[in-house]
Amino acid sequence: MGGLRRLEYRGYDSAGISVISQGQLATRKKAGKLENLVADIKAHPIADSRIGIGHTRWATHGAPTDQNAHPHLGGQSSKLALIHNGIIENFSELKQELLDAGTSFASETDSEVAAHLIAKEYEASKDLVSAFGKVVNRLHGAFTILVIHEDFPDLILAARKNAPLVIGIGEGENFLGSDVAAFVEHTKRAISVGQDEIVILRPSGVEIQGFDGHKVDSKEFTIDWDASQASKGGWPSFMAKEIADQPQAVADTLMGRINSEGMVTLPEIDGLDAKQLMAIDRIIVVACGTASYAGEIAKYAIEKWAKIPVSVELAHEFRYRDPILTPNTLIVAISQSGETMDTLMATRYAKEQGAKVMAICNTQGATLARESDAVVYTHAGPEVAVASTKALTAQMTAVYLLALFLATGRKSMSAPELSQLGKELLKLPAKVTEVLSSLEQVTDLAKKMSKAKTVLFLGRNVGFPVAMEGALKLKELAYIHAEGFAAGELKHGPIALIEQDQPVIVILPSPSDPLHPKVISNIQEIKARGATVIAIAEVGDKEASKYAENVWYVPATNWLMAPVLTVIPLQVFAMELANAKGLDVDQPRNLAKSVTVE
Ligand code: F6R
Repeated sequence: MGGLRRLEYRGYDSAGISVISQGQLATRKKAGKLENLVADIKAHPIADSRIGIGHTRWATHGAPTDQNAHPHLGGQSSKLALIHNGIIENFSELKQELLDAGTSFASETDSEVAAHLIAKEYEASKDLVSAFGKVVNRLHGAFTILVIHEDFPDLILAARKNAPLVIGIGEGENFLGSDVAAFVEHTKRAISVGQDEIVILRPSGVEIQGFDGHKVDSKEFTIDWDASQASKGGWPSFMAKEIADQPQAVADTLMGRINSEGMVTLPEIDGLDAKQLMAIDRIIVVACGTASYAGEIAKYAIEKWAKIPVSVELAHEFRYRDPILTPNTLIVAISQSGETMDTLMATRYAKEQGAKVMAICNTQGATLARESDAVVYTHAGPEVAVASTKALTAQMTAVYLLALFLATGRKSMSAPELSQLGKELLKLPAKVTEVLSSLEQVTDLAKKMSKAKTVLFLGRNVGFPVAMEGALKLKELAYIHAEGFAAGELKHGPIALIEQDQPVIVILPSPSDPLHPKVISNIQEIKARGATVIAIAEVGDKEASKYAENVWYVPATNWLMAPVLTVIPLQVFAMELANAKGLDVDQPRNLAKSVTVE
């Protein structure tokens, strides 16, 4: 149950467990959040057990009901329990085959098909491992499947195809999880399971084999997350805690990567040939959602500092439009989880076309990290709240490091310039702390705005992705319609939305930036049409308060680095507004943290 709680952010439509207790399979499953399952187990207790599987669901096939919750049982006497993450694409033909043979189904899920097939195969052969292997070879699509069977009270079988699976190695006990957060409180030793592999897990040991039966040698890694990072630690929500964690997340991402002269080193990208890296003539960032906004910031920073053309693509759009890639194209895939299927599909496609892939990833052992030519880890620690906060500021930090690393290698800037920027980066954690300590006004205003129907966000240059992120946070947490615009685009259409008292949040560039007066003009244009303006401005910006009803100040920094600071009031604004509406900020409706389906 502890493991499930740590993974609940991956899906929370329903949850269930099966254990083998006193020689018998016992299953409890419930629609809704994990708390419903906890209550059900309290009402119908299960005797102690030493083996079990558990699942939290984000519904694909079949509504989130008790029946559709996992585990699913298989076989004539329901001795087998199965959990599944992913989609079995050929489930309808397999289901028909089972229906024709007289099998009856208890749920509408694709997953139950696998439970019956394995059970049936085992009843015929009496060999569970080979029955399991046979069936997983028949399944198409994306899946991680785990199975236990009453006849084998010390065995868990697992198979992985296009969905995440990690093994935790303990002392006389072993674990499986969709990510390491599930078991980090028990062990720091882990193995990431490869594509098309089967795990035979017992308390005494672990064997891995391919779907074709060949033995697989595995490599252990050490988890550097601290188990306590994945608990609320006294905060009202994971989101509140993770927002507060940001100085540490940024500092840890910088740690060991900038030397005393302010020069950036990234030893971890030696998976990419240095010459090749310097020969790249184009970078395409692929990512989704919030991570794609870190990608937008990468575009500004890499183009400005390293002088390499960058485009940013939503991973799901990129994959299906036949993009032109060459061996000199570098794909930078940004993902907190490293399991977002859209991003994985985009990078796989790019690799097939001969491009090199570098990942910026927060989760050790994740599929993206395994499959990329090089990985720059963000060290934000586990992010449990569904809405991304500290992972984003850590991603931005990694992006600046990458931009400066490339600029250093390609000599696109002088050493003193590079050093000055490197030193500026090192000041960010303290500045993030400063922002976090002066957010009362943001909280007060958020509480007053809980009735708002729509909020607009404006920004220019790196302020534009920040505006998009502000809007996304408000939509996903407070269920309020919000849109982020490039401030210059307003007069090309969206200004028609402005009416009396329309709240507009504007991210102002530094007064030292040539864009500052232009954004001030944009503010005047919308104010003339009745908008109520809230500005995020640099400390000492005298113009901001002349035109905006409210100004939230952040410390001065290099303008390209400012998003790490300006995004924080927007995170807090969305969270406090959602709190004021009585919503669950950690688990907003309809969402799942790791989107492992396309
Ligand atoms: C929004 C949010 C999502 C993720 C997106 C990508 O707050 O968290 O938009 O950023 O689903 O997820 P990762 O980074 O895991 O690939």
